[in-house]
Amino acid sequence: MYSSVLVILISLAIGTIAYPSTWDHVVHERRQVMPEGWNRHSRLHPERVLPMRIALKQSNIDDLDSHLMRISSPDSEDYGKHWSYEEIVDMFAPSPDTVQAVHDWLLSAGIIGDRVSKSRSLGWLHLNVSVGEAEALLRTEYHLYEHEVTRQGHVACEAYHVPRHIQSHIDFITPTIHFDTKVLPSRTNEKRSGAGFGHSGRPPWLPKVSPIAKPILNNLQDCHNNVTPDCLRALYGIPSLPPGMRTNVKYTPQSYLGSDLDVFFSNYSKSQVQRRPTLLSVDGGDVNDIPNLGQNTESNLDLQYAMALVNPLNVTLFQVGDMIETDYTSFNNFLDSIDASYCSSNDATDNVTSPTVDAIYPDPLPGGYTGPRNCGGHAASKVISTSYSYNEHDLSPAYETRQCNEYAKLGLAGTTFLYCSSDYGVAGSQGRCLDPTTKSYNDGSSGSSMFVPSFPSTCPYVLSVGATQIKPNASVTEPEIACSTKIASGGGFSNVFQMPSYQSQAVKSWFRNYPPPYGAERFNNSQLTRGYPDVSANGARYVVALLGGYNYHLYGTSASAPTFGSILALINEARMNIGKGPIGFINPTLYAHPYLLNDIVNGTNPGCGTAGFEASPGWDPVTGLGTPNYPRMLQFFLSH
Ligand SMILES: *[C@@H]1O[C@H](CO)[C@@H](O)[C@H](O)[C@H]1NC(C)=O
Ligand SMILES: *[C@@H]1O[C@H](CO)[C@@H](O)[C@H](O)[C@H]1NC(C)=O
Ligand SMILES: *[C@@H]1O[C@H](CO)[C@@H](O)[C@H](O)[C@H]1NC(C)=O
Ligand SMILES: *[C@@H]1O[C@H](CO)[C@@H](O)[C@H](O)[C@H]1NC(C)=O
Ligand SMILES: *[C@@H]1O[C@H](CO)[C@@H](O)[C@H](O)[C@H]1NC(C)=O
Ligand SMILES: *[C@@H]1O[C@H](CO)[C@@H](O)[C@H](O)[C@H]1NC(C)=O
Ligand SMILES: *[C@@H]1O[C@H](CO)[C@@H](O)[C@H](O)[C@H]1NC(C)=O
Repeated sequence: MYSSVLVILISLAIGTIAYPSTWDHVVHERRQVMPEGWNRHSRLHPERVLPMRIALKQSNIDDLDSHLMRISSPDSEDYGKHWSYEEIVDMFAPSPDTVQAVHDWLLSAGIIGDRVSKSRSLGWLHLNVSVGEAEALLRTEYHLYEHEVTRQGHVACEAYHVPRHIQSHIDFITPTIHFDTKVLPSRTNEKRSGAGFGHSGRPPWLPKVSPIAKPILNNLQDCHNNVTPDCLRALYGIPSLPPGMRTNVKYTPQSYLGSDLDVFFSNYSKSQVQRRPTLLSVDGGDVNDIPNLGQNTESNLDLQYAMALVNPLNVTLFQVGDMIETDYTSFNNFLDSIDASYCSSNDATDNVTSPTVDAIYPDPLPGGYTGPRNCGGHAASKVISTSYSYNEHDLSPAYETRQCNEYAKLGLAGTTFLYCSSDYGVAGSQGRCLDPTTKSYNDGSSGSSMFVPSFPSTCPYVLSVGATQIKPNASVTEPEIACSTKIASGGGFSNVFQMPSYQSQAVKSWFRNYPPPYGAERFNNSQLTRGYPDVSANGARYVVALLGGYNYHLYGTSASAPTFGSILALINEARMNIGKGPIGFINPTLYAHPYLLNDIVNGTNPGCGTAGFEASPGWDPVTGLGTPNYPRMLQFFLSH
């Protein structure tokens, strides 16, 4: 009797005091690289409140790839059988066990159930915690970080821990190590600032522009000097005036200038004067009709060309974010708007999402958008092209994987996502490279600098688009080469994503036949990781009407991506006209049928003090499989 009582007492004592501390805590995420320009400033006061979000592990997520491949491989009998949103939500919503396990963990830490709310899809839990609670829960220390140029503040920690048995139930927690505070346009300021604007600097970036020196003749003999819509039609075999429809995503403050569209159309697409894209606003996004070179270049470029190439149908413009939260608006804000199941917020009026990761709507800052955050308010278009990117190192693998899975889920629903491969060849944004020893960025001139891959291009579920150019003095009918004038086509290998099955043969044959002169000291040469870009299109010397005239050529993969996207939209339209569904996730088809593309075999993508990789026959990490061959693609896709 006596001993039995004692045993009970001991176990009670263990139960109350030692329960959490005997759990085996493991590091869940640790930041590898400090995004450039940020410094640790001070500890946060323990009573400061953090809005915490926990991204729960989705169920059946390991099957996502095989589901997507089944409906995206042209030889599969399920090819083109896209899923409904309900089917997608049902398949991937986190399991009740997952929700319960995380709830129990929070409860054990004294965070009682009514402080925790769930998002509609069950994908997220959110709660307000004090810094002290968060530090105890995650075995970490929170600091305020400050950007050395902008003085912008950001709350983060270096690493955080969770109990081992919880680890399999969560993707990641915010705010913790993440710094995805700004999406950068992929092109850059010619007057490169010595400050080395990092990933999150408030932008003085301007797109890559260069004054137009020679007169614009607007004929096909002049395409090597001036690229116009007719040059692109000639290069890729696009008929003029086919029907089409496509989508473009813009992150405020980037905005088109209507008067510039009209100048452009009056020269290159007369029937479209006064036409505008159909605006779908996300989180206060609006067209800001104030001339500004830095803010108009990207949007003017994309819309002038996309609208001309798919004329007579309309282009839809998703304008994301108000003018206040521009440093925080992220791809997630956009994804939320087209997929309610991705949304972290409980309902459309929730405004306590993580201010340290994505923009918060309604905007708490003066002058901001006061409406609700957009959650599933827009239908996803079938072709979505985005001309922004991050350095893969600047986000965490868990964060990137979750976003990447979202592209796969939208692929299941029939949407094609295109991302530009970025404009710095093998280097990262602004031409920066990574010192593997100090884990910091450098300019690539020292011996120890690794190539920096670009996300979302490294996500296997997007179509990554690199850049080509017409050879100097060559005619528009000669093969193009990789673009290395003013910009260099982004390309390389992920450190995060495994090589997808659809490209393994093509990539392995590149390693075998054209082994690069660099090894693991420069890039992940394991032959196990995702290679990009997948394809390419012209990205040099685009004639763009900007601030009322044609004073600048524009260069960049952010010209290539909308051009390629326009072609896919034309193909979707042609399929629709004969009763077929959208092409959706297209990568497996393109790799299985490379003759749908014009192979690009010359040129390099320099960066980090190297010549970069070389374009070669077949796939290469400079121009991918090549540029679009519209007639072949059309014929193929109309018969599949
Ligand atoms: C967090 O705090 C805000 C502001 O005090 C409140 O509106 C919100 O409902 C809280 N969220 C949760 C999940 O308790
Ligand atoms: C645009 O059209 C105007 C008026 O027809 C013409 O004067 C001008 O040269 C054209 N510019 C270009 C770049 O084609
Ligand atoms: C294109 O947009 C215009 C103006 O917004 C609208 O009137 C027209 O119906 C649209 N056309 C199509 C085909 O959607
Ligand atoms: C959240 O939004 C509601 C209405 O949209 C507003 O009344 C409230 O003040 C907001 N809360 C915060 C913390 O911004
Ligand atoms: C292109 O043609 C111009 C004029 O004919 C000539 O001056 C120039 O050297 C040529 N450039 C190249 C790269 O062939
Ligand atoms: C290269 O990729 C492989 C496979 O994902 C991974 O195991 C390895 O850690 C990566 N190497 C580096 C240096 O990141
Ligand atoms: C590619 O380069 C090779 C040799 O450098 C040259 O012979 C060939 O003509 C070039 N091809 C093109 C399409 O520029």
